[in-house]
Amino acid sequence: SAVSLLCARHCCRKTHKKLRISEAFSSQLGANVTVQGWVRSARAQKVNVFLHVNDGSSLQSLQVVAGAELNDPLLTFGSAVEVSGILQESPHEKQPLELQADSIRVIGECDPVDFPFKVKKRHGLEYIRQFPHLRCRTNAFSSLLRIRSEATSAIHSYFKDNGFVQIHTPIITSNDCEGAGELFQVEPAGADEHFFSVPAFLTVSGQLHLEATAGAFSKVYTFGPTFRAENSQSRRHLAEFYMVEAEISFTQSMEDLTKVMEDMFRSATEHVLARCVEDVDLFHRHVTPGHRVFLSFVLLSSLRITYTEAVDILTRSSEQFAFPSDWGCDLKTEHEKYLVKHCGNVPVFVTDYPYDLKPFYARDNQDGPRHTAAAVDLLVPGVGELCGGSLREERLSVLRARLEQLGLEDAYSWYLDLRRFGSAPHGGFGLGFERYLQCLLGVDNIKDVIPFPRFSRSCLL
Ligand code: 4AD
Repeated sequence: SAVSLLCARHCCRKTHKKLRISEAFSSQLGANVTVQGWVRSARAQKVNVFLHVNDGSSLQSLQVVAGAELNDPLLTFGSAVEVSGILQESPHEKQPLELQADSIRVIGECDPVDFPFKVKKRHGLEYIRQFPHLRCRTNAFSSLLRIRSEATSAIHSYFKDNGFVQIHTPIITSNDCEGAGELFQVEPAGADEHFFSVPAFLTVSGQLHLEATAGAFSKVYTFGPTFRAENSQSRRHLAEFYMVEAEISFTQSMEDLTKVMEDMFRSATEHVLARCVEDVDLFHRHVTPGHRVFLSFVLLSSLRITYTEAVDILTRSSEQFAFPSDWGCDLKTEHEKYLVKHCGNVPVFVTDYPYDLKPFYARDNQDGPRHTAAAVDLLVPGVGELCGGSLREERLSVLRARLEQLGLEDAYSWYLDLRRFGSAPHGGFGLGFERYLQCLLGVDNIKDVIPFPRFSRSCLL
């Protein structure tokens, strides 16, 4: 009878183990389980209903098979459901098992007409970008976010395994580390005087705070949100991005620094490739087909050229550049692209930039008329600058002279203290985490590798 059927179902449900779908895939055949997720496809036949349910725990959806009596008109693409049943062998080669349902509950309905994504259709990254609140329901973007999460863990693991101490550098700060004036000011709404008694800003870099802590822990890092008021809509710039920064005391040379960068990239990339096989494969087959650049991080060492050599390459080329490439000029995107291509489309470290192009903290090479600083940028195919770093000026007299020249000696008296009390040669770098993901996966636009992008004239939700 209907009552006994309901009782039987109720009793069954009690013994059902609630699992994530990734766990269900590695469970025993015959196990009674409950899964919750969103319907990726629904197909009703005379005798059976077939669903694919995904809960974000893996790229694969779980196939659910149910008798036609469990069909419900609300079981549509996009709806949220809870399914209980028994795991059984699947006749389909591609999936290890399927769920024979004895109950299906629609938790939240979804109007398939208004829902911006359509069943079994591959939507491009540009299309799904219009729906930042919903795009994680697509395969491509949920894969991306799982890879992003795994890459985050990989970077933390690299630093932990190599003796770095993680420092939570402040988000609100009174310094403009890069001196580029790309600052967002922080004040309470409607305030008519400074909340902190001095102007305060969202951080453009945690470097100076890392330098302070490297003076006690030797090896430190930070990984957090970073802000730049750059009025740019470019495919490489965000107003809020995540930066990985490291600072190392007792460095002897630029080589010490570039080696850490290389090791970090190799370790993080190997970790992601090993842990995210299906997700990376989806990108390489369907989202950014043909992209294989990330292998350079694993297989090859990067090239190293000086800024002066880079300028020679640009000057000798027959390319028509929009911006000048004379010695002393900043390298623009077009120059970076050309250099990477010229070097065979592999990562390239460019070192020893003109002293006047670099911020006050960069170490003076004291090398004559073509005066350079011990600064480095890592350029990579498709993205351009991925990492920027330098040896820091640890000599009190040289640093004081530079700060005086820039009229900054009072604002940075605390920074001079770091050189007065036990100064040691040190250096560090900052990696744009989103640019790393772009490079790893071949994603053209930076807005497609961060859950909720913020950029000029866009702070949608
Ligand atoms: O070269 P940058 O400005 O270096 C610094 O901020 C140093 N203080 C870091 C350090 O030595 N601790 O920025 C570092 C990296 C760049 O190479 C780039 O990858 C990324 O941060 N980046 C951005 N990424 C996205 N959107 C933006 N607007 C970015 N600006 C910089």
